[in-house]
Amino acid sequence: MSKNKKLVVANWKMNPQTPEEAKTIFVGTRKATEKLKQTEAIVCPPSIYFAQLAKLVPSKAKAGGTKIKIGGQNVFWEPSGSFTGETSAEMLSVAGATHVIVGHSERRALGETDEMISKKVSASIQANIITILCIGERERDHHGNYLSFLKHQIMSGLSGVQKKNLFQIVIAYEPVWAIGKSESEALTGSGMHEMTIFIRKILSDMYGRDNVSNIPILYGGSVSPNNAGNIVSEGYVDGLLVGRQSLDPALFTEILKIVDSL
Ligand code: PGA
Repeated sequence: MSKNKKLVVANWKMNPQTPEEAKTIFVGTRKATEKLKQTEAIVCPPSIYFAQLAKLVPSKAKAGGTKIKIGGQNVFWEPSGSFTGETSAEMLSVAGATHVIVGHSERRALGETDEMISKKVSASIQANIITILCIGERERDHHGNYLSFLKHQIMSGLSGVQKKNLFQIVIAYEPVWAIGKSESEALTGSGMHEMTIFIRKILSDMYGRDNVSNIPILYGGSVSPNNAGNIVSEGYVDGLLVGRQSLDPALFTEILKIVDSL
């Protein structure tokens, strides 16, 4: 298991449908975070709920403490201008986001390219936002081509990131074939351990071993209370990225408690 502080990211995706529900889920999650010792929860709601939820973040967390923070699910690379429908990194930051998810497979599936993702990563770093770069292959092959694919995603996503900004980077490994499935289809802890080693090796080759040991590596894809413990302890990850189960405060509370106890 990793020695770093743990991070559990709640990716609400395009849910829930009303601000009232968003508040209920957020308050339930916040309650769970009050007792956390070494784990931080990053709630990533649709950005339309930011202003409302930012007011519910305890001030200690705003000052850099642990527990609960807000993140974006996407960002645009330009600072302002004629980009209909987009949100800049600065806007996210001003609205209270400390983190942002970049390159999620659902956005890549909508046409986001490695080049666009690289620009989004750089813009987020410039706005002092912690950037959660998502990588993941669509399928595995016996020849290991998926490893070259992942290597390319990492190198390209981080192509604009200098050594001095690595403290603002988190890597989330989310195999696309494990997202949105049943909990038994998630990657196992031992399977994740191989990926943690692989990802850290690529980061070491890019930046030097000593410079990358603190970069958190997360797993995402059908995480549940039943598999979270195994993935974190056997997978040597620094935390998890949770989709569907983060919308249910009872289940998400379970996941947070398990991660915090490891
Ligand atoms: P899931 O989603 O937990 O619902 O599989 C994970 C993700 O897409 O980030």
